[in-house]
Amino acid sequence: MAKDPVRVLVTGAAGQIGYALVPMIARGVMLGPDQPVILHMLDIPPAAEALNGVKMELVDAAFPLLKGVVATTDAVEACTGVSVAIMVGGFPRKEGMERKDVMSKNVSIYKSQASALEKHAASNCKVLVVANPANTNALILKEFAPSIPEKNITCLTRLDHNRALGQISERLSVQVSDVKNVIIWGNHSSTQYPDVNHATVKTPTGEKPVRELVADDAWLNAEFIATVQQRGAAIIKARKLSSALSAASSACDHIRDWVLGTPEGSWVSMGVYSDGSYNVPAGLIYSFPVTCKNGEWSIVQGLSIDEFSRKKLDLTAEELTEEKALAYSCLS
Ligand code: NAD
Ligand code: LMR
Repeated sequence: MAKDPVRVLVTGAAGQIGYALVPMIARGVMLGPDQPVILHMLDIPPAAEALNGVKMELVDAAFPLLKGVVATTDAVEACTGVSVAIMVGGFPRKEGMERKDVMSKNVSIYKSQASALEKHAASNCKVLVVANPANTNALILKEFAPSIPEKNITCLTRLDHNRALGQISERLSVQVSDVKNVIIWGNHSSTQYPDVNHATVKTPTGEKPVRELVADDAWLNAEFIATVQQRGAAIIKARKLSSALSAASSACDHIRDWVLGTPEGSWVSMGVYSDGSYNVPAGLIYSFPVTCKNGEWSIVQGLSIDEFSRKKLDLTAEELTEEKALAYSCLS
């Protein structure tokens, strides 16, 4: 029997991530090839005409899974009845700016959209915040939507996770699909800690640790980390625009694994509400390794953290604590 359509909200849908993301959702990349969807697209009035153009293209593409499109500048209409909300709307970072610089513009948007989601979305709505500063916007959304379960509010660090997989795959000349269990700890910013201490590669003779195969700790502990941390800035420098297709694809990966589950024996990175695991302060949205089953994520427990990693986990937590204070000062 055909499934009922799921309503999926994309905010900032007239922007460049939105333009890459909505066709992926309409093709079933996010929720599966047998899951019909109704797309809810929100943008602001200056972008209304462009948003309508995106709607026209969605109609023209005749996606079999796409059962309807709501294109609106009204947050209440956009949020009504949605079960998945991808929050992309906001202002992107430009060359030379740190993610903190976009804070004051974006946190106030997340405060007001929190209320619209809380009042009008489906009660089990899964929320993914993409817009920067992604962790702190998600935290603000969580705090101003107290009736949405905290487990339902997450932010995107899957792009960083995928970037780490890509770097290892290139370095070892192996298929990216054979590399697994990298971890992004902390903030979606240049303080994030891409950790390969538990990562493995599938080889003809079994799974081998990335550290053993790379056999170059100096590269793994310095250049690899810096490349992943700075990849967003490198894309902005090259494109004069922030990453879009990789962000859209990673957002699909994030929701797909959350809803449909992670494969046995592997984990992914998600920005989630910290419960104090790994001595990360509770009350931050922090990226952890997670597995997903039955639509719920759980933080992978019991991984060993060496002294080098500990310092990096703490540094990015400190930045998030500062961002949280800054966000509240922008809102007051
Ligand atoms: P963009 O400027 O092309 O698009 C953003 C869209 O949001 C625009 O159409 C704008 O009109 C709209 N918008 C602004 N305020 C809004 C509001 N209040 N409600 C609804 N829509 C609103 O930017 P982009 O390149 O698509 O990037 C979007 C965001 O995603 C930026 O904050 C960017 O920094 C961030 N980003 C995050 C990641 C990640 O991995 N977490 C990766 C790439 C980009
Ligand atoms: C990215 O990681 O590509 C985005 O967050 C854009 C940015 O500001 O770095």
